[in-house]
Parts: sequence; structure tokens; C-alpha cells
Amino acid sequence: PYKIAVLISGSGSNLQAIIDRIEQNVLDARITRVISNKPGVSGLERAERHGLSTTVIEHKDYPSREDFDAALVRVIQDSGADGVILAGFMRIITPVLINAFPGNILNIHPSIQPAFPGVHAQKQAAEYAVKLSGCSIHFVDEKMDHGPIIIQAAVPALAGDDEKSLGSRILALEHRIFPQAVQWLAQNRLEINGRTVNVLNAPSPAVV
Ligand code: GAR
Repeated sequence: PYKIAVLISGSGSNLQAIIDRIEQNVLDARITRVISNKPGVSGLERAERHGLSTTVIEHKDYPSREDFDAALVRVIQDSGADGVILAGFMRIITPVLINAFPGNILNIHPSIQPAFPGVHAQKQAAEYAVKLSGCSIHFVDEKMDHGPIIIQAAVPALAGDDEKSLGSRILALEHRIFPQAVQWLAQNRLEINGRTVNVLNAPSPAVV
């Protein structure tokens, strides 16, 4: 199967959703390594509980974003991964990483893009008093939270919502659309044409 490295910075609930779909045999991917830029986060515990190998690479140990990314690339390539899944990875990545896995890096962002790029998108949405929010999975390009969109899902923002209540409604959908996008990537079904991503039909199984 298609092999992925999953990069995290925190709780790893999206990592968990991907692990669960793999263990349920509905997602045809294999996780070769879970990498966190922060030690001690609960996403690392989740990975270890499922027997996955983990690596902590702290960005603060590197003089530049490019040096940090070069360290990521070494570990990801050593793990044998074909693609890179940014699952709550809260660092801006550079061409050093992007160009090492062209067309094979996915990110999740907790907004209907192009709304609210950057950190605390859920808080930005709640403070803006939107009526609708959601999440997006996109290919990563050189601009932050910008690349071609693969799938989005929307949730209502309700009266009295704050960052936490809106965020948890969004998160429930993140856990549904992220494994779906990873499955399409793993099946080589995503065709990028400029900003447009087409999802191709599943290949027919062999007859003989
Ligand atoms: C998720 O809400 C994800 O969309 C967001 O971080 C959270 C990670 O949660 N990512 C970003 O904001 C990226 N700009 P998790 O660690 O439980 O998966």
C-alpha cells in the first residue's frame, strides 16, 4: 500500500482517525512514521499505542525553516514514505520539504478555505461571527493554507458558539474528510489541473 508519514504538533485526533480507518481496512495506506515537532504531545502516545514508530524533531533545534525541513525530509525518506500528511502540524513548511514529495503532501485546515488562514482559524471564525464554517483538505504549495483543495465540509455556526464549541463541531468533520482524502491520494486518484483537483473513479478490480 501507499506509505505515509504523518506530521503532528499536538493531540493527534486526526492521526487517530487515519489510524482507525487503516485498522478497519477501509483506508489502504500504511503509516511508516509519526513525527512531531513537539515532545510529549498526546499524538505521540496515540501512535505508540498503535505500534507506530515515532520521531520528535524540534524546530527550535534548527537555525532556519529550511534546516528543520531538511531534517524532516531525511527522517521521512528513511521511513520509506511516499507521501506526507500534515495532521495538525503547526509549522510553515518550505520548498525543501515540498519539493521532496511533489504532489504528495496533504494538509488539513479548520476553515472553509480561503477563509481564516493561519493559526486559530476556529477562534477567528467564532469572533467573525460567521454562520457557517468547516474544514478543508488541500495539497500543500509554497503559500500557507493555499494549495489546490481536495475536499471541504461545512458545519453551521450556532448562536453562542465560541472557539471551543465551533471547533469541536468542525473537528468531527475533519475526522471524516481527512481519511477520505488520504484514501484518494493512496489510490492515486487525485488529478491536479492548476487549482482544480479532480477525483478520478476508483480503478476497476482485476477480473482475473
Ligand atoms: C485540527 O483542528 C487541524 O485542523 C488544525 O489543528 C488541529 C489539530 O488537531 N490544523 C491547523 O490549524 C493547521 N493550520 P489534532 O492534533 O487533534 O488532529
